[in-house]
Amino acid sequence: MLILPSSVRNNLKDNDVTPESLFYSRRKFIKSAGLLGSALIYSRNSYSSQANSAKFANLAQTHNIKEELTPFHDVTHYNNFYELGTGKADPAANARALQTSPWSIEVTGHCNKPGKLILEDILKPHTYEERIYRFRCVEAWSMVIPWAGFPLSSLLKRFEPTSKAKYVAFETIYDKKNPLPGQKRPTIRWPYREGLRIDEAMHPLTFMATGIYGKPLLNQNGAPLRLVVPWKYGFKSIKSIVKISFTEKQPPTSWNTLASREYGFYSNVNPEVSHPRWSQARERRIGELFKRKTLMFNGYEEQVASLYSGMNLKKYY
Ligand code: MTE
Repeated sequence: MLILPSSVRNNLKDNDVTPESLFYSRRKFIKSAGLLGSALIYSRNSYSSQANSAKFANLAQTHNIKEELTPFHDVTHYNNFYELGTGKADPAANARALQTSPWSIEVTGHCNKPGKLILEDILKPHTYEERIYRFRCVEAWSMVIPWAGFPLSSLLKRFEPTSKAKYVAFETIYDKKNPLPGQKRPTIRWPYREGLRIDEAMHPLTFMATGIYGKPLLNQNGAPLRLVVPWKYGFKSIKSIVKISFTEKQPPTSWNTLASREYGFYSNVNPEVSHPRWSQARERRIGELFKRKTLMFNGYEEQVASLYSGMNLKKYY
């Protein structure tokens, strides 16, 4: 689970949490499939094909890093998705509770073409790409994940944001009358909310993922579509999005609202700025025995540092 401040932790029961030690003894550093090719074969054999798989054939390969992929099983069974439970294994175990069809996304705020679109209309016009990105959780573990999807900018431009759109706010599914298992308790104030500055949202690396390992996203990873912002801590990458708003003011975001001293709005990966309760200098790459150094902006410094040129990066945002 994302490491909660003690005030929130006290409201959880013991079995909400899968101890990391158990997780590791179970999987004992399974060796990754290694090459993308073999990893894809593994994933294709391991779950059934779905209607929109065709989108993921012959994906353009852009912005890929050349690091060993985290095994498919870990990417899909070691998750943070509080709507499906606070333990790492809960999202996969409770994945069926999330109904992804029908699905629609409402777009509101400062844009010329607001509206509510069904998923098919959201997905149809885009050219799909594969992006192999580092993924760094604020809890100091990391993975390398082959996502499939399209740049967020190409989706946002369709709604024609106006000059008043300084930020983009996102919300995850929440039906008060029919909450997901994890939403039955106020772990966070539902719905899960996230946000980006408009230039961050429009950055070419900012990605709307609808697939993983060459197949449609699994529910535990945020089906049917989720954000991926590779230079920020993982909690910014909001899952199962139902609402997008263009706002003039910085929108409230879930973890920042819950513990603003610990989880900033920006939350760019920065090895030099410790979380108030632990260092961010090193990380455990899932599947590796020894910790590795965390990279500035998670290794994407060259591409994104200019977004923050006037800002004090030593501050814990
Ligand atoms: N999005 C929603 N809606 N709910 C969540 O609990 N957890 C975040 C993020 N997006 C979360 C979410 C956190 S803390 C992380 S680290 C990543 O999702 C985990 O993504 P993964 O499970 O696909 O690795």
